Amino acid sequence: MKKVLIIGGGLAGCYAAVRLQATCDVTIVTKGGREESNSMLAQGGIAAALDPGDSPAAHEADTLKAGVYHNRKKAVAQLVTVGPQLVRELLQAGMPFDRQPDGTLSFGLEGAHRHRRILHADGDRTGAALTRFVQGRLQTVTWVTHTEALALVQADGECRGVVVRQVPDGQPQVLAADAVVLATGGLGNLYDFTTNDHTVTGDGIALAARAGVALQDMAFVQFHPTLLALHGRCYGLITEAIRGAGAVLVDECHTPIMANVPQKDLAPRDVVARHLTAWQAQGHQLFLDISAVANFPEHFPGVTANLDRHHVPFRRDHLIPIQPGAHFMMGGVQADLAGQTSLPRLFAIGEVACNGVHGANRLASNSLLDCLVSAAKAADAIAKLPARTPEPGQTLPQVTLGPGHLPALATLQQRAWRELGVERTPVQLQDFLQWLGQFDYREINPAALTTAALTVANLCLCSELIATQALAQPSLGAHYLKEDADESSFITPKA
Ligand code: FUM
Repeated sequence: MKKVLIIGGGLAGCYAAVRLQATCDVTIVTKGGREESNSMLAQGGIAAALDPGDSPAAHEADTLKAGVYHNRKKAVAQLVTVGPQLVRELLQAGMPFDRQPDGTLSFGLEGAHRHRRILHADGDRTGAALTRFVQGRLQTVTWVTHTEALALVQADGECRGVVVRQVPDGQPQVLAADAVVLATGGLGNLYDFTTNDHTVTGDGIALAARAGVALQDMAFVQFHPTLLALHGRCYGLITEAIRGAGAVLVDECHTPIMANVPQKDLAPRDVVARHLTAWQAQGHQLFLDISAVANFPEHFPGVTANLDRHHVPFRRDHLIPIQPGAHFMMGGVQADLAGQTSLPRLFAIGEVACNGVHGANRLASNSLLDCLVSAAKAADAIAKLPARTPEPGQTLPQVTLGPGHLPALATLQQRAWRELGVERTPVQLQDFLQWLGQFDYREINPAALTTAALTVANLCLCSELIATQALAQPSLGAHYLKEDADESSFITPKA
């Protein structure tokens, strides 16, 4: 039986495993536990053109427009046509997407969608419900949890496996495979304001980059407009579905911030995030006014629990304090429509991959759909691969673990937010790269670093790739390059 190693236990990794388990010997390796992934945190749902008034063509048009036509058209066509088939299969298998009182599926609305086409499950806990449902279908798959990937093993121009070790202090070990699938998510923890799970630290991108595998579109990081913001820190996502249900972005004077922008509060995320950033830079506070949303706690139980946990008096004043933060990486490991990377037998699926589907700015709720589609396509391709005889696993020589000459994680995150954030300037990007140049994160032996140091080294490498591409890439979608002399944002906030 072919051996397949999947690095990452979120929706993409688990769905690929489900589709491969009957024909392959599948192992999922995760840095954390089974419940630690961005998929588990996804609130907004999964977009699929299943409503009779909707169509894949309309979904395709919205995806391309939000992505500023930087998307790969074939990848978008695949997403909007294969996606609904896979969602139907999940429905037939019993996936409990939310329904109307009459039993029909309930479709929600989010930014830049022209139709209500977002399916949710358990209200705003769609990611957890869907990922657990898919995990519940795993039968013969081996889980290796709390284990990090250190390096890809290559021979004869192919990927042959992965060097892994248990965190925090296991011995490095080679796991050989016929195919390796990167499903590690993005790099949200490069920033101090992020919606991402703490385990999402650019590991798959760094693994690929160190192995010379092609990357693409690294300048395009999506900043979500609404993270819960308290005392200068962020505490998770406030789903865009709340704006889809009628909530409005306002400042401390209750001025509707998006009133003069086309599509208003439901403009594409990059537009809303930049507009809020410009407003905030003028000294305003930012809030989501939920007074128009009926039965808020019932429809948004996950957000309600988070607000209650942080003692936010939203029931009294109907305001949630928010600010933009890092959410999703459109760029990543270059992959074709079947997830094949530039290294034979290495596949990339879900957020770590850049198959071109999201363009310069991902359309809301397309990521869970892409997890399913990219995983299914990669599984089909892996099923067709000829088997190799894997070498037996070997233990690598022991090395002394050290911290390396690296910045403190908090310093890196703060600089990344300032210099690689919603707005960037050429001078800031150059300053960032110059500062980064003093650290040792490139020519390293990952096995010689502690887990904490390797995390920082991986994020440093990702930040270099973002800054370098951002300098070369004119403004587009989520990447906004402001002229250094330009004191104000290109969007002038209007009351
Ligand atoms: O706002 C949200 O619920 C986010 C959805 C998404 O990123 O797709």
